[in-house]
Amino acid sequence: MPELIVALDYTDALDAFTMAGSLRHETRWVKVGLELFTREGPRVVQTLKGMGFKVMVDLKMFDIPNTVRGGVRAACWIGADLITLHLLGGERMIRAAVEEAAERAATGGERPLLFGVTVLTSMEPGDLPGYDGDIAGLAGELADGAAAWGLDGVVCSGFEARAIKSRHPNLLCLTPGIRPAGGGSDDQRRIMTPAKAVAEGSDFLVVGRPVTRADDPAAAARAIVREIAS
Ligand code: C5P
Repeated sequence: MPELIVALDYTDALDAFTMAGSLRHETRWVKVGLELFTREGPRVVQTLKGMGFKVMVDLKMFDIPNTVRGGVRAACWIGADLITLHLLGGERMIRAAVEEAAERAATGGERPLLFGVTVLTSMEPGDLPGYDGDIAGLAGELADGAAAWGLDGVVCSGFEARAIKSRHPNLLCLTPGIRPAGGGSDDQRRIMTPAKAVAEGSDFLVVGRPVTRADDPAAAARAIVREIAS
């Protein structure tokens, strides 16, 4: 069954732990991203794992191959279960990450899942400097790279998931920009409801504000999980 990942986009670790605690019975996965990781560092990942969660470390790595290799090594050390990298980093960067994760597994550590970001769900046609082609086409080409270079999956909107899965059935699709029916879109643009994203083939749904800013976050998460399962 597809999984819900709740994005803990907070500056303060205590806020993140309080939210995670209230979602303990609703989801197995949480996401630590730029804001929380930059302020609070690896200890948040370790504490969340101690609470029993699987942790997506969403730093969207994008650098020269050697630096990304080191970043993946460090993310493995702190116990990340899923790591994100930008596919625009290209073949040598992605292969360095894949090799590093494989070495980790070869030495007895747990290998995290590696996901390549295609085109951010906050972007719409015209937002990509110097590119006036269609976003789905670009996301598809980047997903071809992800499959060829050994990644476990891609981060894409629900609008691209079906085409990507039909070309690469073994590639997992992780979809942010999820908005329950009737909710606002915030800064996201290529948005979709949980049920529709699952119908399009998404394996993981990343949801932040619709859960964390709800009056009752546990109830909001429960409703999404119910929608995913139905
Ligand atoms: O609050 P909201 O549901 O829009 O949060 C979505 C989360 O997913 C954010 O933490 C954002 O960083 C992340 N994300 C995204 N688009 C991507 C990759 C990750 O929105 N392509």
